[in-house]
Amino acid sequence: MVDIETLKSKYAGEIKAAADLVALDVVRVAALGKKGEVSLQMRTLAQMSPDEKKVMGPALNGLKNELTALIEMRKLTLEEEALNAALASETLDMSLPVSTKTGTLHPVMQVMEEMAVIFADQGFSVAEGPDIEDDFHNFTALNFPPGHPARDMHDTFFLKPDANGEKMVLRTHTSPVQIRTMMNQKPPIRIIVPGRTYRCDSDHTHTPMFHQVEGLVIDKTTHMGHLKGCLMDFVSAFFETDVETRFRPHHFPFTEPSAEMDVRYERVGNEIRIGQGDNWMEILGCGMVHPNVLINCGLDPDEYQGFAFGMGVDRLAMLKYGMPDLRDMFAGDGRWLEHYGFSPLLQANSATGLS
Ligand code: DAH
Repeated sequence: MVDIETLKSKYAGEIKAAADLVALDVVRVAALGKKGEVSLQMRTLAQMSPDEKKVMGPALNGLKNELTALIEMRKLTLEEEALNAALASETLDMSLPVSTKTGTLHPVMQVMEEMAVIFADQGFSVAEGPDIEDDFHNFTALNFPPGHPARDMHDTFFLKPDANGEKMVLRTHTSPVQIRTMMNQKPPIRIIVPGRTYRCDSDHTHTPMFHQVEGLVIDKTTHMGHLKGCLMDFVSAFFETDVETRFRPHHFPFTEPSAEMDVRYERVGNEIRIGQGDNWMEILGCGMVHPNVLINCGLDPDEYQGFAFGMGVDRLAMLKYGMPDLRDMFAGDGRWLEHYGFSPLLQANSATGLS
């Protein structure tokens, strides 16, 4: 019969000597693991006489509990030692000089924040949706039926088809968030949607990834006059000057009637001056939400109506802050960011100015 005291002092010594958690676990397995010495001894209980069992059963169990407790205690000590060692070695030298370089807010981010501030004043809140969309939200529900030629105009990036042959897309516009919002929220709705959009297109005025801000207003009485007023107020606030605007009829599948809005501008040398001159520049698409779109979202077009608009953020940033080439915006060049970026500590707000 094994001597309990010998076993105990042997393993107590090894536990105490274990220098780290790995070594401690080796001791635990040797003593208490499935094939550990103590476990094997416990298995011999079955072959013992009842009298022997009476003595050895409680003794072995006691040994097991004692060793378990010792291991647990040693573990706590080792963990505390490891933490103290890490704390001692990871001190920060506060006297070291810090880098004087601060990051900047990208102009696109700045402009999106400015837009959110302006539209917040008009009672809009911000909504978001996924960059990877399904065909239903990006096209079908927006009244682009399958096979409709307007789908081809979007130069869509498709993902690999899934098991059912369905292809997800990188959203080609922020308009799918109109659908998501109308399907999940009861009118009145008044949202803007800033976000990334994607089309397979690249030259000095196009990048495959670009940014849009969508707008959507749904209630029972909103009409085209509200749409015009909302957008005219927006451009004057955004360009921080009186801007003359013009609405031209246009076509979008998801609005009826549809329009594009132009702003008056003038080119002086290399500079573009918004609000004066004899030229017109298109800056956004808009219209009254098409009854089919309302129906696709479960809204009754005899009860609800509203307007929507969508604008390119990068173009507006270029116009407002005078960046000549769109592609530089996303090249990640630190010098460009230092020059065109904005202070991350100055928040756009309508009280003290947008930028
Ligand atoms: N989704 C359109 C595009 O990317 C822009 C647009 C036009 C959005 C008219 C609208 C709208 O909400 O009413 O070309």
